[in-house]
Order: sequence, then C-alpha cells, then structure tokens
Amino acid sequence: MRTSQPRTIYLSEYRVPDYLVDHVDLRFELFEEGARVHSKLAVRRNPEATGGPVPLELNGDSLTLESVHLDGRQLTTDEYQDKGELLIVPAVPDTFELQVVTWIEPQNNTRLEGLYKSSGMFCTQCEAEGFRCITFFPDRPDVMARYRTRIEADRSMYPVLLSNGNDVDRGVLEGGRHFVTWEDPFPKPSYLFALVAGDLVEQKDAFTTVSGRNIDLRIYVEPRNADKTDHAMDSLKRAMRWDEEVYGREYDLDIFMIVAVDDFNMGAMENKGLNIFNSSCVLARPESETDAAFQRIESIVAHEYFHNWSGNRVTCRDWFQLSLKEGFTVFRDSQFSADMGSETVNRIENVAMLRTAQFAEDAGPMAHPVRPASYMEISNFYTLTIYEKGAEVVGMIHTLLGPDLFRKGSDLYFERHDGQAVTTDDFVKAMEDASGRDLGQFRLWYEQAGTPVLTVEDDYDEAGEVYRLTIRQSIPATPGQSNKKPQHIPFALGLLDGEGNDLPIRLAPSEADAPATRVLELTEESHTFEFPDIPERPVPSLLRHFSAPVRVNYPWTRDQLRFLMSHDSDGFNRWDAGQRLAVDVIRELSGHAETKVDPRLIDASRVLLTDESADQALVAKMLQLPGEAYLIELTDQADVQTIHHARERVLKSLATALRDELMACYRRQQTASHYQITPEDVASRSLRNMTLAWLLHIGDEEALELALEQFRNASNMTDQSGALRALANSPFEAERRQALDDFYQQWQVDPQVVEQWFAIQASSPVSGDLEAVRRLLEHPAFDWKNPNKIRSVVGAFAGQNLPHFHSQDGSGYQFLAETIRRLDDSNPQIAARLTAPLTRWRKFAHVYSEGMHKALESVRDKENLSRDVYEIVHKSLA
Ligand code: PHE
Ligand code: ZN
Repeated sequence: MRTSQPRTIYLSEYRVPDYLVDHVDLRFELFEEGARVHSKLAVRRNPEATGGPVPLELNGDSLTLESVHLDGRQLTTDEYQDKGELLIVPAVPDTFELQVVTWIEPQNNTRLEGLYKSSGMFCTQCEAEGFRCITFFPDRPDVMARYRTRIEADRSMYPVLLSNGNDVDRGVLEGGRHFVTWEDPFPKPSYLFALVAGDLVEQKDAFTTVSGRNIDLRIYVEPRNADKTDHAMDSLKRAMRWDEEVYGREYDLDIFMIVAVDDFNMGAMENKGLNIFNSSCVLARPESETDAAFQRIESIVAHEYFHNWSGNRVTCRDWFQLSLKEGFTVFRDSQFSADMGSETVNRIENVAMLRTAQFAEDAGPMAHPVRPASYMEISNFYTLTIYEKGAEVVGMIHTLLGPDLFRKGSDLYFERHDGQAVTTDDFVKAMEDASGRDLGQFRLWYEQAGTPVLTVEDDYDEAGEVYRLTIRQSIPATPGQSNKKPQHIPFALGLLDGEGNDLPIRLAPSEADAPATRVLELTEESHTFEFPDIPERPVPSLLRHFSAPVRVNYPWTRDQLRFLMSHDSDGFNRWDAGQRLAVDVIRELSGHAETKVDPRLIDASRVLLTDESADQALVAKMLQLPGEAYLIELTDQADVQTIHHARERVLKSLATALRDELMACYRRQQTASHYQITPEDVASRSLRNMTLAWLLHIGDEEALELALEQFRNASNMTDQSGALRALANSPFEAERRQALDDFYQQWQVDPQVVEQWFAIQASSPVSGDLEAVRRLLEHPAFDWKNPNKIRSVVGAFAGQNLPHFHSQDGSGYQFLAETIRRLDDSNPQIAARLTAPLTRWRKFAHVYSEGMHKALESVRDKENLSRDVYEIVHKSLA
C-alpha cells in the first residue's frame, strides 16, 4: 500500500504565480547514457503577486541536480534546497537570471512523460506536468515564456534535431556531433515545449495562407513509414484552410511540423509548431489501415492543428480549465469532420460514444464537472467529460447563439485573450459580450457534474387543437455534489403529422414563419409548452440532433419509433428511434428464453437493407444494433451475461430472417476502383462488412466462401480486416484459425497492423477467451513498454470483450488487476487508464460487482502505488 495519501489540489486555492519567466534558454546534450540539460531563465517578480518577497520555488521530478547559478554566481548547497519535487531558492532579487543544470536518463524513462526514447529516437511529452521531468521550472500553464533551444547530439545517429519555432542556427561539433538551435517567438507555457532527435525522413509540402504567407509543412517519420504520410498531409492542409474560412484563424509560424512516434501514452500533442503524434493517429495507407483509421487521423490532425489557436495562442490559466482548450477544440474538430464527410453520421458517432462512455463516467465514482473543482493527479482528468461533454457544452452555446453570433463570440475571445492564459469563464464571457445573451445559468454546465434526465409528458387537446408538452429536468447526485440546480438546456423539438411531415411549431396562435424544428430553452425544473394550431395528435421528435447531452425519457410506442425511423426529417433522430426500438426489443428478451424477437424490428431492418434510394451512410449506421456497453449503461444492476445473450439472440434472429436480403445487400456494394474515403464508399465497405459479419455469425456456408475470398483478394485493409473480424467471430474454427495465422504472416513487419490483429482477437467473444488473451501477452510481437500494444490486447479485452471480461468467476477482473499492478511502476498513466472498467462496479449485479470490488482492493494493496492509480482506486472504493 502507499504510505502517504497524495495531496488534493483545489481550484479555490488558485493564486497567481509569484515569479514570471520571460525567457528560457535551453541547451540539451544528448548521449546514450543520459542527457544533460542546461537551462537559463530570465525571471522577475510577478507585479500582480501580493505580499512581501517569497522564495523562488521550481517544480522537478526525477531530476539529478548538478548546479545552480544566480546572476552568474554558483550557489552553494546551503543557498538552495533540493527537495526532489521542488527546488527552493530562498533569497532572490526582483529580477534575475537563474541557471540550472540537471542530468536525466531518457533511455530509462518508461513513464513516457518528459524526455524519453522511442525506437531509438529522443522525444518529449510535457503536457500536463512533464516539463518538470526535464528541468526545474515553474511548471504551470500561466507562466508563459519565449524559448530558445539548442540540441546537441551524435550526427549520424540523430541527423534530425527539432524543437518549437524556427531553426536559427546549426553547426558541426567535435566528436562526430552536431547541433541545431530553435527559437520560438511566441510566449508559451512549458507544457507546449517539445524536442525530437532521431534518424527520420521527412515529407515536405507547403501551404499558402489567406494573407499570402508561405508555410513549410513537414511530416517526420522513421524510414519504414515513409509511404504512410500522404493522408495526414492532406488532412493538415484541409484543416488549415478550414480554420481560415470558418474561424478566420491563420497559421502564425513559418513552419509546421508533425513527428510520428511509436511509444506514446495518448493520441497526439499540440506542441507549438511541432506536433508529436502516436503513430496510430497519423500514419496510414489504404493497404494497411482501415477507413476508421483514416477518419480518426483526419480529425486528430485537425484537432492538434486547431489547438494552435484554441490552446496555444490562448491557453489555460490552470489545469482546472483544461476543457477551455479541449472542449472547444473537440467541438471545432467535429465541425470540421462534419464538413468533410457526412454530418449526420459524424453526429451519430460522437453521440454513441458520449452516451456509452461519458454518461457512464458521469454516473460513476470519477464523475466530475467539465471544470473540476479538485484533483490529485491531473493526468486522470483527460477524460470524456473534459473532452466530449466539454465539446457538447460549447456546441450548446453555438445552438443558443446561432452560427453568426457564435463566430462573433469566438473572434472576440481570440482577440481579447491572445497571448493569455485564461479560464472557461473568460470564454463564456466573450460569448456573452459578443451576443448580448445572458449565459449566467448556462455556466452551471461547467460546475455541476452528472447527466441531466429529462422526463417528457404530453397531451393533446383535440377541440382546441393544442398540443402540450411538459418537460421536467433532474440531475442525479454525483460525488461531492447533491441537490443540483436546474440547468439551461437547449431542447430542439419537431412534431410529425400522420404522414410524417413536420408541423410548423408555433408558440402563439398564427405565428408567422413558424419553424419545423424549434429550440426550446429549458431553465426551470419543469416547463409546460403549448403549441397551438396542431390539427392532429403529433408524434414528437425530441432533442433533435442531440441538442444537449442529456437523457430523454418519453413513452414512445414501438409503432411510433418505427414511424420516426422512416419519417423524421432529422437524420440523427431517425437513427435514435431505431436504437430505442432495438434496445426495447433486446431488453424484452433479456432473461426470457421463450420470447420471440418483435417482427417490427425485423421489418424495419428489412426496409433498411433493401432501400437503395436511402442515404447508405445513414443506413449502415442504423443497421448496427446498440452495443453491449450501451445496454449496460442503460441498466441498473446489469447482468452482463444475460444482456450479451439477449443481444446475440436478436442478432441471430435478424440474420436468419433476413438471410437473403443480407446476401443481396452484400453483393450490391460497389466502390470506386481506387480507394477513396468518401461517405458513399465508406458506407459501402461498412455495409459489406456488417452483412458478412451477421451471416458468418449464423454459420452461413455461402458467406464463409465470400469472406475467405474477400479476405484473400482485398485491396484495402477495411475489406481485409472486416473479413478477418467476421471470421474471427464465426463458428468456423479451422478457417478462423487459418485466417488469423495468414494475416499475421502477411503483416508481421507492420506494428500498426499487428495491433489490429491483437485487437481483433482480444475483443472477440469467440476467439478471445482469457486463455487466448494471456497467450497474446506471450506473443513475440507483444511489448509491455508500448502503450498501443497494451491497449490492443488488455484494453480491447476489458473494454470490448464483455462476456469474457465479465466472466462470473472473476478471472477477467483478476487478470486486469494483475496487469494494472504490473504497469503501475513502469507507466502509471496507462495503468490508471486501464483501471476505468473496474471502477464501474456499482453498476453491476452482485455476482459481478463482488469480483470487481475484490480486484480493485488487490490493486489498492500494491506497494508504492502511483498517485495516478491511487486516486482512481480510492475514489472508486469510497
Ligand atoms: N493535449 C492533447 C490533445 O488533446 C492530449 C494529450 C494530453 C496528449 C496529455 C498527451 C498528454 O490534443
Ligand atoms: Zn486536444
């Protein structure tokens, strides 16, 4: 067990920094046995800090201090205190220069925070608090400085030396070494610092900005990945253009660089002018990566690029404001993806993730507001709530203001706060000031955790032709918060007549220009709305486009849901009606072996499968049954095995009843002869893979032949891995083993494909029982030091292979606990992330929750538990 409890940090304790750093001069000497970091800081007392002179305190982590100089004079050891996590210099003047030399060991850094090595190259990760692993520094985002960075290293091993800004000097040194100096003219917080040194190849391109400036674009990769950079480069140029057109934001430096690294804790990082990416989030070619990867890459490249304004030019005052940059930037990247592809499909994908995973987080022991009030370890707060719910909150402001006022607001925000470190409140204030709208109550979205529940009741007055809706909101209690105040909720409503047409929605009789979709604003616990001139009882289409991150309860009948599925003018709600119908049918079957699948669900699926005139991208989404994780999220005291079996039965009934339609749909799918990621082609490949998967699931012999043929002759990875996945989940044991072996033989040289191969098996209820998953960990391609490999086996098993992970003997939980304990010393961030599935134990029936609780206790009892895992385990056992 950990001997001391980590300290909790509170937002209410925020104080401005006592000292500011105007300039940072860094010199890195990189060697195989370590690195020496020389730092020269131009420091001055912060004029806004109150009180008398105070000691200078600099953060540090795992550093060996070699020397300290103040204004050129070396300090003796009694003139400063090296407390490991803090370097204290008690007596300093108001303005001074501090020089610190530290020694670090990047080659032994398995936490992947600070400076570390990934397949032979040096790279950094400084957000949130990694810079203090490089040198002593006031490592907080409201200390913004200009950086000059000189990197020295062996010239043949590390020909490429990169940092933020522009390269201003380079030269040859003795002993086969060389150096490059970089200067970043924009003041930035330390978390945006980056350095890379390696033997890399570059892909070069250029972009001309709206004002005619020429920007050098470069993507650096290991030589073996040289053929995987085109898609990221194209995505980058599209993102740069889009940000100019939609937000009026132009790029500011003369060069923009992206580097791909294999070992990375997260997806990617927006370091100023030098974005560093997890290989899996930037490298792709059609033969080896799927459509999903192509789309993910486009949106992440855009996300990191957009941070240059929403995050870097305007940054966060403190880490409680993390959603200031993340929520806004996710909102921006989803607008971008919607503009590049299918808007409705993008919305569906975002909401499906939000409702499955963020709602679960918001209902669990780690629930926290979009602007948290406290934390122990900030790395634990890079959450779906900060990112996805934060984006929804910005999206609601967009809905309330409309696109023009929202743009005025974002212009004002960037203009007012350029070069500053600010708060989510500053963001809302800019939106208020630009629009004249009062967002006072709206701010509760940042302060209160928990997903609001809307209960909707209606009645229809036939004589008066008035339709009445009563909407009640309640917000469940979350850790540390009970008795919540009602929130300001934009609620988009449509009303359908008997033919399925939208009725004009009036708030007063004979109101002119009444809209077909009306955004109602809920501010009280209960609202009753009256809509006049409604000639017949309508079918309500509630929360169109998912206009707020809330749960909606309304007693739709199954016939009404079918009706909405085919008639709602809101594509999102057509999909949602289908999901609700499917959930209802699956639930009806849960634990009732004799109940038959409602023929209305089968008919609805048949219509979707055969209607060639419908938007195939939407059809592909609508045919997917709600996932097990979502079904669990909707259930109290969830019984995983029962839910799994009920869903399986529905899937099998559908596949059996619609066998011929599935086959015809499969054969109908045609894509362009060369690979492209248009919404049409993506939908087509998705329909092929889905129909194949359903048919293989019921052991169809003809489908087996088709799958084998598709597997062998595929010209792109979406088709090949789609067939493999279908085979891996089929009852055809010999073929499935053969295909898995062949795939590995074909792709073993490409680690990104090997990760897909791991994930397909670890997430498969058929191919991935616990024993098989343990064997994957012994596989020569598995690597405990590589987060992607861990995620593709352990993460995929615990997150997607629910029947095996939730085995009632508790073996899946024990396995996960073992893994967490093993990783806690080497990479606490990854260990903490893997803990999430266990924290939800209260959600499950006793047979499960007991085992999950035990597993959590066994993690809690580990020696020297990291702060990361400590926080999550203790909060979830509390
Ligand atoms: N700031 C990164 C992003 O969202 C995420 C990240 C956080 C990466 C912490 C690494 C470490 O774009
Ligand atoms: Zn981000």
